Amino acid sequence: MHKKVSIEILEKWLTGWSLSRALPLPTSHKTGFKVNVGDEKQKMRYVFSEPDAFFLHLAESIDEPWVFLKVCTCFDDFKDKIPDRWILQPQGYMMSCLGLMKIPDTVCLPRGYTLEFESYPSAFVAKIMTKTGEQAAIGRVVIVDDIAIYDRILTEKEYQRKGLATFLIKQLEKIALSKKVFKNFLIATEEGKMLYEALGWEVYSFYTSIVIPSKI
Ligand SMILES: CC(C)(COP(=O)(O)OP(=O)(O)OC[C@H]1O[C@@H](n2cnc3c(N)ncnc32)[C@H](O)[C@@H]1OP(=O)(O)O)[C@@H](O)C(=O)NCCC(=O)NCCS
Repeated sequence: MHKKVSIEILEKWLTGWSLSRALPLPTSHKTGFKVNVGDEKQKMRYVFSEPDAFFLHLAESIDEPWVFLKVCTCFDDFKDKIPDRWILQPQGYMMSCLGLMKIPDTVCLPRGYTLEFESYPSAFVAKIMTKTGEQAAIGRVVIVDDIAIYDRILTEKEYQRKGLATFLIKQLEKIALSKKVFKNFLIATEEGKMLYEALGWEVYSFYTSIVIPSKI
């Protein structure tokens, strides 16, 4: 059963996301938030908990490409209320693990790989490297108040399904636990969702993105 995402959770998650990517922090926009992402293909993102009147007003008034609207619900809930120029992006999921993840303490790094850590003012980055110095997997965690936000977890294609992401997430979880943070949140892709469900996470809500991809 999906939950309604509170403004508090949304703001903390988006703050963690912005910190993880060294972007400006989110600012309030009506009932949602805005992040000035500044990429050519993602100038700005507006993130809302619900497709309310303010969200729908943005969908009506924006005609500029590469401004993303994101909302914690499924597309069917609002697709008939927005102009046709908006294009649905691959489905995302807000996921949570409100307690310990289901990863045994005995989980270990497969032979031939090494773990590296980098610590930034607001983000911890873990990397798994191969013997030849190639990056096999990477991921980040950011702590915002009482929640840990995981971001950009990736295992390179040729190293997938060897347990690398599982090991990496376990190391990131240890960082959160060392700061007495037990509530974990992230936005998952379809592929990520399968990984996190295997690790004891649950879908908290849909996370749907729409954008106008080119000049109309
Ligand atoms: C998702 C991703 C990080 C998984 O990395 P990984 O190192 O292959 O994951 P693990 O080997 O630790 O997988 C552990 C378990 O998760 C589940 N799982 C992971 N990837 C899966 C997939 N593509 N399909 C189904 N189940 C999957 C399985 O239960 C797996 O155990 P098994 O291999 O014994 O069946 C990797 O596929 C990836 O980088 N994808 C592209 C980027 C992406 O989507 N990142 C997630 C952002 S939220």
